[in-house]
Amino acid sequence: MICKLIGIPLQDGASQLGCQMGPSALRVAGLAGTLESLGHDVRDLGNVSVGAAMVMPHANQAIRNLGPVAAWTELLAEVAYRESDEGMPIFMGGDHALSAGTVAGVSRRAAEEGKPLFVLWLDAHTDLHSLQSTQSGNLHGVPVAYFTGRPGFEGYFPPLAAPVDGANVCMIGIRSVDPAERAALEETQITVHDMRTIDEHGVAALLRDFLERVSAAGGRLHVSLDVDFLEPTVAPAVGTTVPGGATFREAHLVMEMLHDSGLVTSLDLVELNPFLDERGRTALLLVDLTASLLGRKVLDRPTRSY
Ligand code: ARG
Ligand code: MN
Ligand code: MN
Ligand code: MN
Repeated sequence: MICKLIGIPLQDGASQLGCQMGPSALRVAGLAGTLESLGHDVRDLGNVSVGAAMVMPHANQAIRNLGPVAAWTELLAEVAYRESDEGMPIFMGGDHALSAGTVAGVSRRAAEEGKPLFVLWLDAHTDLHSLQSTQSGNLHGVPVAYFTGRPGFEGYFPPLAAPVDGANVCMIGIRSVDPAERAALEETQITVHDMRTIDEHGVAALLRDFLERVSAAGGRLHVSLDVDFLEPTVAPAVGTTVPGGATFREAHLVMEMLHDSGLVTSLDLVELNPFLDERGRTALLLVDLTASLLGRKVLDRPTRSY
């Protein structure tokens, strides 16, 4: 498989500085070499960058960096569209605002191929705020609302070539939802599996149901992995830790099942903040999880103490 590594040093959507270093940390942790050792043809396309962005005023005074994030979204939608022509693009973030662009781009690709796009959202958060409803003003909290075509982005973010049907979005790991997001969720058909659901049913049964739907529809599948999906004790390098996340074992199981399905066509690795890491353990874990997604089996895992 051709794996295209695309660095996206975006941190304007997060409250804390540091996600800009995410692509570097994933490179230092050996992402390319690890995937090559699994037999993949790895192409590191370097980092994407935007020029100086306009100031974009908005009635919601809390919003931070709207102009820059809008510019990133436009550029990333183009890059993601272009690079989803062949192989698997792996978008190395960067904060989760980047998914507004990457999902918009791969969705346009899917639409052109006449296929539905499905999105697996692995996150503690639903990231379903509108520009109006965000109170933190951190735009990593809005990408799902944007790419599912919810209102309020017109005139700020670029128009969507192909909005993603909420019924094709599955969220796993959810454990922090703001009131406005909860209200918005009720207007969508997004599947939300919170931690309680995982505890009761096991992550495998939940994921299997979703993968069967993707397969039956002949869809493309984009996976968006936010570091805070994981339990903070195994993945501390993120600005928005929420206790009670996916365990090391659950996360690997998800990745292994995704590999076995053969359905994944693109991947975001987001919210890694290397400034908050402990001797690179979170970056190394992301590399190992990506390896599981791309075919590494349990018995082939390196012995590593995180
Ligand atoms: N809902 C919260 C907010 O709007 C947290 C968002 C966290 N998102 C993320 N991608 N880490 O600020
Ligand atoms: Mn190579
Ligand atoms: Mn997120
Ligand atoms: Mn999150």
